[in-house]
Amino acid sequence: MISKNSNIYVLGSLLITILFSCKHREGEYHSLTDKIEAESKKYHGTSISSASYIGDIKTIEITEGKHTFLIPERKSQITSFECIECHTKPLKELKNIDLKKAHWDIDLVHANEKIMNCATCHNGDDMNNLQSLTGTTIDFNQSYQLCAQCHTSQFEDWKGGAHGKNIGGWSVPRAAMTCVNCHNPHRPKIESRWPSRFNTQKVKERE
Ligand code: HEC
Ligand code: HEC
Ligand code: HEC
Ligand code: HEC
Repeated sequence: MISKNSNIYVLGSLLITILFSCKHREGEYHSLTDKIEAESKKYHGTSISSASYIGDIKTIEITEGKHTFLIPERKSQITSFECIECHTKPLKELKNIDLKKAHWDIDLVHANEKIMNCATCHNGDDMNNLQSLTGTTIDFNQSYQLCAQCHTSQFEDWKGGAHGKNIGGWSVPRAAMTCVNCHNPHRPKIESRWPSRFNTQKVKERE
């Protein structure tokens, strides 16, 4: 015989089950996070990747703090690299040779000359590399480390993708332009440009 008490118990638990069980109809989730988690399962291991947008630009991988991403390689893009093709001797000795100014096209318009000259970034004894303010060697491919010494806030923003520009998308592998892709290190100011706009004169001429 089933007692009256246990009948109530069975009925009660049935009610609870009905009340709290979730009807998992398609497209219905407990919360937004559940929905995102469930829907994104479909995409794991599939082809969402920035690789195809990066194209055939030669890149190098860097890790700065908790950020790991790609930046374009530079050395193959610098016209007068390798520098040691001419800079076989320390700069002091080269400068004694009676030559026309070799880098006449480089005009330093950056910080004032009390703060900055060629030797702030280039090492006269090791011309194929850049150097930090404390004399540490910096590779030409990682010249952003040079800029980061003085422009900390832009550097912090750049690492996270807030300053600068991604080459492909945000998904891995993420590739971002490096400082010298946009700023000439010798003349870093980005000149202001007029917005392009509808040319009423041209329209008149066509009529
Ligand atoms: C075609 C030969 C040649 C190449 C290549 C070359 N240099 Fe020079 N560079 C010279 C000569 C010659 C001088 C010394 C005369 C002068 O000051 O112009 C010089 C001077 C310099 C100076 C000192 C300028 C000054 O006013 O104090 C710097 C800095 C420099 N070079 C950097 C570089 C770097 C960096 C590279 C590679 C990216 C490079 N050079 C590649 C020939 C060259
Ligand atoms: C703020 C740091 C900085 C200063 C100061 C600086 N340079 Fe440079 N220089 C660089 C960086 C970074 C590059 C490589 C840029 C790149 O990747 O295109 C470079 C590239 C060069 C090159 C190779 C350019 C080419 O396209 O072939 C020469 C030559 C050079 N510098 C000479 C000089 C001379 C001469 C001075 C002083 C008048 C000077 N630099 C001052 C950072 C600096
Ligand atoms: C030794 C410190 C130092 C280094 C290294 C340095 N900068 Fe600067 N930079 C300065 C100072 C100081 C100013 C401010 C000049 C001013 O306001 O007149 C400046 C100004 C600038 C500006 C603003 C220019 C303008 O007038 O709007 C840009 C962009 C810039 N730097 C980019 C770079 C990049 C890119 C590098 C690396 C290749 C770099 N800097 C390396 C000190 C530095
Ligand atoms: C995709 C291009 C791009 C890249 C990459 C880039 N910048 Fe800039 N940067 C700009 C533009 C555009 C401005 C705004 C110029 C203006 O408003 O006049 C700027 C402004 C600046 C300024 C002037 C102050 C300011 O914030 O307006 C500094 C300093 C600077 N950048 C440093 C850097 C450094 C350091 C890096 C690398 C860590 C870097 N930039 C990478 C495009 C770039």
